[in-house]
Amino acid sequence: KHVVVLMGGWSAEREVSLTSGRGIAEALRSLGHRVTEIDMGRDVAARLLEAKPDVVFNALHGTPGEDGTVQGMLDLMGIPYTHSGLATSVVAIDKELTKQVLSRAGVRLPGGKVIESKSVHDGDPLPRPYVLKPVNEGSSVGVAIVTDSSNYGNPISRDVPGPWADYDQLMAEPFIAGRELTVAVLDDEPLAVTELQAKGDFYDYEAKYTDGITTHICPAELPAEVTKAAMEMALKAHRVLGCRGASRSDFRYDDRLGVDGLFLLEVNTQPGMTPLSLVPEQAKYRGIDYATLVGRILESAA
Ligand code: DAL
Ligand code: MG
Repeated sequence: KHVVVLMGGWSAEREVSLTSGRGIAEALRSLGHRVTEIDMGRDVAARLLEAKPDVVFNALHGTPGEDGTVQGMLDLMGIPYTHSGLATSVVAIDKELTKQVLSRAGVRLPGGKVIESKSVHDGDPLPRPYVLKPVNEGSSVGVAIVTDSSNYGNPISRDVPGPWADYDQLMAEPFIAGRELTVAVLDDEPLAVTELQAKGDFYDYEAKYTDGITTHICPAELPAEVTKAAMEMALKAHRVLGCRGASRSDFRYDDRLGVDGLFLLEVNTQPGMTPLSLVPEQAKYRGIDYATLVGRILESAA
């Protein structure tokens, strides 16, 4: 097949996407496909018309490749593409919409409150500790944990680096003490549970993409019922949102509470495919090598 790998773009996760995209392109070539790599610019529609691919492998992360915009364009052009479709992408990129849809379906998530970023200096939106994050960003870009010992001051001081400047809306969420877990779903099957043990406060951008600074434990050492519950929650989220191909759900787990301490934070519809990414790692654990994984995601394109 002639496959266009769409990557790059202009989101905060541009570099992550280029790394995902290059790996995917190489894997597709090894599978015998003819591959065109496109670093997405505003002229992407014209470049796709020229390339005339059979299918697009969407390796974009963030806006506008993960939020439904690119999906809508490809729908309109009649080009099949990998991962989730338009409506799913619109909901899943937005952490507040995701909470509304999944909590109605009975999935446990932390409570949350959306605030206008310009009101962030007016005082704490929630009792501390809480997490402040952009509603529609990825890779932990712009995430801050506000604790009693943060020198954020009250109201939050203007000179603290944080997400507030670049985003209209922020989500404030109670901080869940405990552990960080993730579950990939591939073709309607949860693969495994991985625990991320970051050296710093949490699994932030640097911890995600710097080799050697986060310990990945796959499969996570958890009571069997917690592993089962996390996999069920990820599968339910994948199905309720209508995800296609691969997705990855991220969790916090307060192990003092057992199964009731599992909280789903968000669903990633364009999960990273870099050498340090978690979907390839879980696939490998299940005996699916990187190229086979890429091939399976390609097959799920619609
Ligand atoms: N947003 C990054 C790419 C991930 O979910 O892996
Ligand atoms: Mg994410």
